[in-house]
Amino acid sequence: MGKLENRVAVVTGAAQGIGRAIADKLVEEGAAVVVADLNGEGAERAAQELGGSAVQADVSQEADAQRIVDATLALHGRLDVLVHAAAIVPFVPWDDVDFAFWRKIISVNLDGTYLIGRAVEKPMREAGYGRIVNIASNSFFAGTPNMGPYLAAKGGVIGLTRAQATELGKHGITANAIAPGIIRSEGALASPHKDSFDFVQSLQALPRHGEPQDIAPAAAFLASEESGWVTGQTLVVDAGHVRN
Ligand SMILES: NC(=O)c1ccc[n+]([C@@H]2O[C@H](COP(=O)([O-])OP(=O)(O)OC[C@H]3O[C@@H](n4cnc5c(N)ncnc54)[C@H](O)[C@@H]3O)[C@@H](O)[C@H]2O)c1
Repeated sequence: MGKLENRVAVVTGAAQGIGRAIADKLVEEGAAVVVADLNGEGAERAAQELGGSAVQADVSQEADAQRIVDATLALHGRLDVLVHAAAIVPFVPWDDVDFAFWRKIISVNLDGTYLIGRAVEKPMREAGYGRIVNIASNSFFAGTPNMGPYLAAKGGVIGLTRAQATELGKHGITANAIAPGIIRSEGALASPHKDSFDFVQSLQALPRHGEPQDIAPAAAFLASEESGWVTGQTLVVDAGHVRN
């Protein structure tokens, strides 16, 4: 029996990449999964392949975040787990960062984490149980170049996760973050990040490139009852690249 039998999970950003690998793992562990993604076609395809359902939504819009929760409750009557993986992973030299770009990254990557977190809170509080897993990044610890607003947003995600843990613990809700290292997601491979894998591997303790599936077991643990005494933490899953 899987560790998520009878649990209902929303996984944002699960049309592809790390979110998709996590969605697959949660299904393997017995959960019913709702795939929420800006890419509606991709979300539908993923949902079909993993036997879940899809919601097309932009997590940086308050009404969309609420719609994800409403759709999940309409379908399943409960919402036990949020894994929030949706984000933009940019590669923009510092000198090219302007305020509009800064706002865009903060809006999707940090505001989006706040909005979907607030939306799942209500059913979780009513049930007296919930698991929030926010995907941060080890680049926050490494200070990776060409990702300025992203580093700021992911630092914010870690702070917000601590706040969620503090504020929601009394309702039986845990909140933790995962900080992946560089991972061969569709997004990373379609960007200049694709040229960084060998260099980053030279900094890792474990000498191979990271795959989306390398993140999924940590997410399944934090999404399950087994992690009930763990909250407010950031678990770095990066082959030993940053060691803090
Ligand atoms: N790939 C890496 O190297 C890496 C490393 C550390 C952390 N991360 C984090 O892991 C998560 C997943 O990254 P990935 O590499 O799999 O990315 P990806 O680009 O392959 O996939 C991201 C998904 O999020 C969706 N998305 C983007 N903006 C959205 C929005 N506003 N609303 C809803 N959905 C939206 C996209 O449509 C896409 O399906 C992100 O939080 C990213 O910051 C990735």
